[in-house]
Amino acid sequence: MPACARARLTGGDRARITARPTNREKIPLMRAAVLREAGHLGVEEIDVPVPGPGEVRVRLRATGVCHTDRTIVEGKVPVPLPMVLGHEGAGVVDAVGGGVTDLTVGDHVVLTITPGCGMCRQCQLGAFALCAVAAPHLLDGRLSNGQRRLTRGAERLNHFAMQSSFAEYAVVERRVAVRVPDDVPFDVACLTACGVSTGFGAAVLRAGVGFGETVLVIGVGGVGLAAVLGAVTVGAGRVVVADRSAAACQLAADLGATDTIVVDGDGAGGGGLAARVRALTGGGVDVAIDAVGTAGTVAAAFTALRGGGRAVVVGVADARAKVSIPLYHLIDQRVLTGSTNGNIRPHVDIPRILDLYRAGRLPLDRLVTRRHPLENIGRAMAELGVRPGRAVITF
Ligand SMILES: NC(=O)c1ccc[n+]([C@@H]2O[C@H](COP(=O)([O-])OP(=O)(O)OC[C@H]3O[C@@H](n4cnc5c(N)ncnc54)[C@H](O)[C@@H]3O)[C@@H](O)[C@H]2O)c1
Ligand SMILES: [Zn+2]
Ligand SMILES: [Zn+2]
Repeated sequence: MPACARARLTGGDRARITARPTNREKIPLMRAAVLREAGHLGVEEIDVPVPGPGEVRVRLRATGVCHTDRTIVEGKVPVPLPMVLGHEGAGVVDAVGGGVTDLTVGDHVVLTITPGCGMCRQCQLGAFALCAVAAPHLLDGRLSNGQRRLTRGAERLNHFAMQSSFAEYAVVERRVAVRVPDDVPFDVACLTACGVSTGFGAAVLRAGVGFGETVLVIGVGGVGLAAVLGAVTVGAGRVVVADRSAAACQLAADLGATDTIVVDGDGAGGGGLAARVRALTGGGVDVAIDAVGTAGTVAAAFTALRGGGRAVVVGVADARAKVSIPLYHLIDQRVLTGSTNGNIRPHVDIPRILDLYRAGRLPLDRLVTRRHPLENIGRAMAELGVRPGRAVITF
């Protein structure tokens, strides 16, 4: 603890803030889930961050719990520690830094993981997830402008995915905060920060599922269920899902999947799945989406395609996996590719997805199967892959 007094932020403190309080002033505190070493994610009181120029502070109201957070907790992807995790945040703009003129206190926002800079070659080509400026900051502990704003007294903490939403407040660069309509519940809006954008976008934008096409989705957790919804939204024909969990398959069926395959043993990567899907669909699917991400599931997705079909990998269960595919499957014009965050253009596609929800045409609320306070973050993570649907932390 620093020598100066520390206290909770009050309503009166929320305004245009441009400078950190001096040592003599009180430093407001907030609760945040901090990863200090692999396997240990604990809720602590840290300083409420102060936005710098071009940044905004958001009072988080909800944040989804994505499997990628668990992958980081498990130490499977190296990140600088200590780090405040969470990357599916939604909330209310609470303070704006200097130079921010197009967002105001009270605006509702979703925090995108692929803000892009808008100016680099990749952004100009529409590939925001590959932005030369922002993308390197996804895992390096910094905001999209390279700054760090999280502290606990004299100690600096790292950001995750340019936002760190497992906390009562997040400071982000303005372009991370996507303005969304006030009438969307925060526990629905937050899903579009990552999981829903990733699954929906993988089907609709990256794979470009067309009406009547057959689709296979492997792994129907938060991301895979959104892929099912995306395929259904654009009028896919058969939508086959495969998962270890019968409950996940049932939820997928409730959301429009036409065929469910509960896999066991090694899961969908254990062989046999592709043959079953090929038999079921008369020679293979048009599109396969792998929302698990092992060498085996990628091979299953690719092998389940018809000639000329497209496989999109979004799951990263094994970041070091190497994939081997028969050369002739390429000659047969199958496509194997991947996607970060469903190739969305955040400030266009997040509002579009939420407009479909508002119109009653995309039941995103049915993905939210449990709500927890921040203190239950460990339990929410343990439930991934055990209980179907998405867990949301509400504040
Ligand atoms: N590319 C991206 O931009 C991006 C974005 C978000 C998440 N992800 C990744 O996508 C994956 C899914 O994330 P999620 O939040 O939906 O996870 P989740 O835990 O909610 O769902 C995973 C589902 O896969 C099933 N599963 C696990 N292993 C399986 C196997 N071998 N065979 C069949 N089913 C299996 C589980 O039962 C569960 O239903 C994770 O690897 C996550 O890191 C990638
Ligand atoms: Zn995610
Ligand atoms: Zn860019």
